Amino acid sequence: MALAVFYTLTLAQAATLSRYPYLQNVASDQATVMWATLESGSGSVRYSLDQKTWRTVTARIRAFLPAQTGLVFTFYQYEADLSPLSPATDYYYQVLVDGAGIADGTGTIIQPIRFRTAGPGPFNYLAFGDSGINSTEQRTLAAMMMREPNVSLVVHTGDIAYLHGTFQEFQSNHSDIYGNSSPSLNGNMMRSLPFFLTPGNHEYYTPDWTLFPYLSLHSFPKEGVPAADANYYYSFDWSNAHFVSLDANLKESFEPNEQWKVRAVTPLTSAINGDGYMLKWLEQDLAGSRKFWRIVFFHQSPYAGGNNASDPAGKAFRDYIAPILDRHEVPLAMNGHEHSYQRSKPIRNHLAVAAGEGTVYITTGGGGYALYPLTPPSLVGDVSAYAEKVFHYMRVEVQPYQTTVRAIRIDGKEIDRLTLAPKPRVDAAVNAASFTPALSPGSLFSIFGRYLAADEGQAQSLPLPTQFPGMGVTLNGYPLPLLYVSSTQINAQLPFDMKGAATLRVTTSNGLSEIPVNIADVAPAIFVASTDQGQFPAVLHADGTLVSPSAPAKTGEVVLIFLTGLGQVNGQITCGQAAPASPPLTVTAQVQVEIGSGSRLSPEFAGLAPGFAGLYQVNVQVPPLAGGNHTLRIIAAGSSSNPVTLAVASASQ
Ligand SMILES: [Fe+2]
Repeated sequence: MALAVFYTLTLAQAATLSRYPYLQNVASDQATVMWATLESGSGSVRYSLDQKTWRTVTARIRAFLPAQTGLVFTFYQYEADLSPLSPATDYYYQVLVDGAGIADGTGTIIQPIRFRTAGPGPFNYLAFGDSGINSTEQRTLAAMMMREPNVSLVVHTGDIAYLHGTFQEFQSNHSDIYGNSSPSLNGNMMRSLPFFLTPGNHEYYTPDWTLFPYLSLHSFPKEGVPAADANYYYSFDWSNAHFVSLDANLKESFEPNEQWKVRAVTPLTSAINGDGYMLKWLEQDLAGSRKFWRIVFFHQSPYAGGNNASDPAGKAFRDYIAPILDRHEVPLAMNGHEHSYQRSKPIRNHLAVAAGEGTVYITTGGGGYALYPLTPPSLVGDVSAYAEKVFHYMRVEVQPYQTTVRAIRIDGKEIDRLTLAPKPRVDAAVNAASFTPALSPGSLFSIFGRYLAADEGQAQSLPLPTQFPGMGVTLNGYPLPLLYVSSTQINAQLPFDMKGAATLRVTTSNGLSEIPVNIADVAPAIFVASTDQGQFPAVLHADGTLVSPSAPAKTGEVVLIFLTGLGQVNGQITCGQAAPASPPLTVTAQVQVEIGSGSRLSPEFAGLAPGFAGLYQVNVQVPPLAGGNHTLRIIAAGSSSNPVTLAVASASQ
């Protein structure tokens, strides 16, 4: 006991906390912990699943000098990355300086703090903006948000620290309000919930220091963002949602008396000028995501009415960013800048469209700074669905197939609610190997569209499942076996006993979508295998290795060609089942193999690949050929497959 008391006293004197520990960049496999002290020390974070077994990581330390911050003291900022972590898991962390815990402002050692990593399933997040002025309203809303149950993360739509985004203002108008540990104040959200921020214009009004407080005080996801723009914009995944934070600032839109010295040109300005990355990055980032929900947040308001309605940044957004959100069918966008709550109708091409289409823009700018009037009204057509000049925050509940957006007024009343439940939409059904519309019985095919499945899923065993959570696929009402599902693509198998015109239907919890398909007798198409050395046709040597220019086929050897689309088989098998091995099932169609311009060869075997569903295999002996590349085709019932290139060894090899 005596030792413990001594230990505590030592710790209390070890370092003076200037910023309480806060979480950044939490993902399914990692988290970053940051804090600051007035004295330099050796920082580390220990973390644990059960508070019994601990792992410790060293923190990076960075000194912030008065000349860089405008503060009268030097502070030391610590940053530690906790990785690898497990998804959807509770962890405890405790910050240490010189190996000991540190005390908060009341002299109490900060005890281990619990947080949870990202993972699958429903989750809730809070969103607000235009908050950082240390007003009564800001503090009231902060206290309300801290009482919100089951929250995973917080999105801030910018203008975090009025008036000039200084270090002092980030401390007094942001960290001290959402990250304060004093029981007499609100509590502390920032220690257990990651804040994902976006820069407002006021963040940019920082004086001419060498450090930009908005960037210096935070750690955001950096993956895929060019180094020159790191932290200005970023994206991350949480469950089945893909979040994107954009920097929507346009330097040209600022009043002449405002400082703007942290960056000569904003990411948006450079992108518009053609020498910046953000718009290209956004296009690629959204194209690369298979998440059901895509939620884009930024500061300036493209469609809301109010004091900033004529801000050139809003027009720049409409001209350059909104078309990208349109193209990628982003269902939900959130911004601030107008100090009010406003919800747009779903918008596409600047016009209101039907529910379930387009993008809903939520303006949440009532986080604490003085409110603005709602007029002039929305700028482009009649796109306003709801508007109220009110202090508020947002609670967003993300379910697999539905998202509910709620606006909570400062008096606790829910003033607006919107549920997004996008219906599935099938755009095309194509051969899984050739990506052409040619389909045939028993074959593998791919469905492309949007909102097809809430989550990515992969069949784990045979026979293949015919359903994934909340969704299924039928052909003329017959449930199809599924290999892979996602929001944008499904890979499935067709039945062996259906031909001709048919109706393909994808059904989810939100509705259904159908397209007509035509199933021919055969539709042969050879698969392509992707390897580190490049893409090669799925042709194997007898030992299972891939035929390639570095391992060419030899005259006389039997190679195994993998394809789909050879149609019906001799014998009974149900789609979705593993094909038998002894004996394997042969196809009914006549199959020939054409290598080079030579005559057509009869294969040794043409049938279902044993152990797989929907995969066909043709075994053929390589005829005498000159060394080099030869075109290979499979002909089934007179119908030719896609041509692929077969590497053949010269006689001396
Ligand atoms: Fe603003």
